[in-house]
Amino acid sequence: MSKKLFIKTWGCQMNVYDSARMADVLAPLGYRPVDEPDGADMVILNTCHIREKASEKVFSELGRLRQLKDVKAEVGDGRMIVAVAGCVAQAEGEEIVARAPFVDMVFGPQTYHTLPEMVAKASRKAGSVLNTDFPVESKFDFLPDESASQGVSAFLAVQEGCDKFCTFCVVPYTRGAEFSRPGAQILAEARRLVAGGTREINLLGQNVNAWHGEGLDGTTWGLGRLVRELADIDGLERIRYTTSHPRDMEDDLIRAHAEVPQLMPYLHLPVQAGSDRVLAAMNRKHTADDYRRIVERLRAAKPDLALSGDFIVGFPGESDADFAATLRLVTDVGYAQAYSFKYSARPGTPAALEHAQLPEDVKDARLAALQQLLNAQQQAFNESFVGRTVPVLFDRVGKRAGQLLGKSPYLQSVHADANERLLGRIVEVRVDAAHPNSLAGSVATGEYRSSATGTQTVEATV
Ligand code: 5AD
Ligand code: SF4
Repeated sequence: MSKKLFIKTWGCQMNVYDSARMADVLAPLGYRPVDEPDGADMVILNTCHIREKASEKVFSELGRLRQLKDVKAEVGDGRMIVAVAGCVAQAEGEEIVARAPFVDMVFGPQTYHTLPEMVAKASRKAGSVLNTDFPVESKFDFLPDESASQGVSAFLAVQEGCDKFCTFCVVPYTRGAEFSRPGAQILAEARRLVAGGTREINLLGQNVNAWHGEGLDGTTWGLGRLVRELADIDGLERIRYTTSHPRDMEDDLIRAHAEVPQLMPYLHLPVQAGSDRVLAAMNRKHTADDYRRIVERLRAAKPDLALSGDFIVGFPGESDADFAATLRLVTDVGYAQAYSFKYSARPGTPAALEHAQLPEDVKDARLAALQQLLNAQQQAFNESFVGRTVPVLFDRVGKRAGQLLGKSPYLQSVHADANERLLGRIVEVRVDAAHPNSLAGSVATGEYRSSATGTQTVEATV
């Protein structure tokens, strides 16, 4: 009999990927995904610990789940297994077990392949199963193949964990040491995805460009080589990767941007701050000028490359002059899109112990100033497309009937009136209007690009 599984996911794309893989592991046990937690046989909260209020959100969600769990038991509908997974589970597992004893399972990101054992244990005994190990084996060797099509645009985790230890960040503690999946495993997963209808693959990793995996020839490959091998897969039209660290931006990967047409002209390359003093205190291991030079090399290889970044304002000890250096760097680089955050002290990280924590109002003012600049850059970037034609990969239906949504090469969301037959295809779209977070367009002709190298014509299908 099929059992209902509800997974709620917070945080990064890696968590989205992990949630899909947890569903894959649970499918042979009879669990089928549902859209609501009410009446579910298992509810998993896949949590994020990167910024503030993570655990409060989890505990308030758990409060609601407790009621649903009680209702299910009272109406004689069986037991709801409640689980907390992800980085909050890894960082605060014991506290969750102590504060919310009705939670049946608490487990960290490296244990998902052991879910069947944990479910068996939780079903047998009362009390919580806690598993925050970093097992010696790689979960990727034990996770089953994907059970369902992952859609036109799919994620593929190639790397996990981080050895960089930026002083503000929990990732090296919650996800563990850097690990690169072997090339053969990644290529096999990519082929399965493409056979299931995927046209775009987003390679994922906390430090994706630190990927150094075993190649098919037994040598160690870098990400540039992996991208070239992926580009040989028939039917795979677009390749992206995220998130990258400036220090791992190797020449071969930069060259791949010039040489591999399937590699999209978009790069998320966080710098965090523009002041060398702050960058050193963050343990970023590069200066602002190092970053400027990397951007120059990237743009020399791929002049139309759209850049995205992450920024933290109000790092402990950040002065007005330091913050002004961040604004200068943003002005020099010019971002198509970016994420910016107020520094939040994360328990267990070195920066949280600094005395010079900044007042909230200073952080608020700096965040507002930075976001104003970044928003203006994004708006200008989007407006520069009005009147131009861009190839859009339609990956889902829009809210309005007859509308499709897709992405430009530069990761802008584009919506246009288009026939559903164009789903999964790359279509030339003329941009009619630019909004802060999307473009509106019309299908330009009956033409669509069937591969990165050729153009085919179909009858008009608008
Ligand atoms: N405070 C604020 N932002 C943070 N990030 C990571 N840790 C913190 C923190 N303690 C941001 C960084 C990172 C992004 C994923 O989240 O900018 O690149
Ligand atoms: Fe965190 Fe720094 Fe590693 Fe990125 S590189 S995951 S910010 S420690």
